[in-house]
Amino acid sequence: MRILVLGADGYVGWPTAMHLASAGHEVVVVDNYYRRQITALCGSNTLFENPDLPTRAKIFTQECGPEMHVEIGDLTNVNFTSSLIKRLKPDAIVHCAEQPSAAYSMQGRDEAKSILDNNINVTFNIIWSVLQHAPDCHLIKIGSIGEYGTPDIPVPDGWLTVPSDPQEGEASHEFLFPREGPTIYHVSKAMSSQLLMFYARQYGLRCSNLMQGTIYGLLSAQSSVDERLLPNFYYDCIFGNVVNRFMAQAIAGVPLTVYGQGAQTRCYQHITDTLDCIEYAINNPAKKGRMSVQNQYSEMCSVIDIAQRVQEAAGHMDISVTICQGDCPSEDCDEHPYDIAHTPLEDMGLTPSLLTCEMITSELEIIQNHADHILKDKLSLQIAN
Ligand SMILES: NC(=O)c1ccc[n+]([C@@H]2O[C@H](COP(=O)([O-])OP(=O)(O)OC[C@H]3O[C@@H](n4cnc5c(N)ncnc54)[C@H](O)[C@@H]3O)[C@@H](O)[C@H]2O)c1
Repeated sequence: MRILVLGADGYVGWPTAMHLASAGHEVVVVDNYYRRQITALCGSNTLFENPDLPTRAKIFTQECGPEMHVEIGDLTNVNFTSSLIKRLKPDAIVHCAEQPSAAYSMQGRDEAKSILDNNINVTFNIIWSVLQHAPDCHLIKIGSIGEYGTPDIPVPDGWLTVPSDPQEGEASHEFLFPREGPTIYHVSKAMSSQLLMFYARQYGLRCSNLMQGTIYGLLSAQSSVDERLLPNFYYDCIFGNVVNRFMAQAIAGVPLTVYGQGAQTRCYQHITDTLDCIEYAINNPAKKGRMSVQNQYSEMCSVIDIAQRVQEAAGHMDISVTICQGDCPSEDCDEHPYDIAHTPLEDMGLTPSLLTCEMITSELEIIQNHADHILKDKLSLQIAN
């Protein structure tokens, strides 16, 4: 297939592009380096230099064989997006080009506006360009389980069936499960999910929304070949996630910072599981007219559980790690019922990679090679996102 990977300079997009090219697809990668720009503005650094996209694509071809075509441009620009899709007429698009930092989106009015503008305009432009120029294309958007928030009732796998009043008969209706995400980033994701659903229902768009938990990990089949092929690794309290931050803290020799009891439980998966889920979606296209939604994660972990696993793995490398439990600044880190239905990866014929001691150790070894780049002042307390 000819596949466009949008947001291919990013953490999920780059391994996705390599994975799909290695599976024999014709891959075109697209980005405008927005992530690099806003992280630089915030003084955040990725642990190691990631070469720019054309350079990485060349290294990938040298080391792994397949070629990739690179397009640099802003997907909020309708002319760029429309002409790209008109020219390339892709069979599938993997849309990773929504800017994901929850904490950044909550910093103030300008940050919130930039996230809303970017994410909604990108998705809107892609949808219209597909409908106009590649109407059979399967649009796969990487959604976030965080969109749901933490409701007091179990979250079904995408759709919620609401029965009518039993007195009125057997009628029921399926609604997209309501979104109560905690940040403007999550609101932007929810709004773009609504756009997909609307255009699927009203215009027959073929689309899948893969609702992923927090994704961690650096090593995939291709990125293991050469360190220059690793994806970005942010560990700070604005752009990093809790797994990255704990691993960076362990290597930097500072305590792992856990709020309260660390009971906050969320869904997680390794990047290789995300790659498998994306490939599965490509091989099982959604039907036109109804957005396909799947909640996808490999395990649920609490913050304290992750801290203890990192502590144990570091211990195997003779690195002594302490866990520091600070005060809980908001009710967000309290214990809360959290029940997210999903199709287990095993039911899709996939084997999940879990946050085991061995897995963490292999990631810690890479981080250790770049320990001198860790900015310790960026490791302060932050709620998991
Ligand atoms: N990383 C996770 O844990 C996680 C979990 C669930 C869902 N997701 C979703 O996966 C997607 C990718 O996330 P990520 O972690 O790879 O983020 P990332 O910031 O590393 O990658 C996003 C990429 O998209 C590019 N981009 C953004 N706006 C663009 C535009 N207007 N034009 C062209 N390129 C643009 C950025 O420059 C960046 O390289 C996001 O939609 C995110 O919501 C990520």
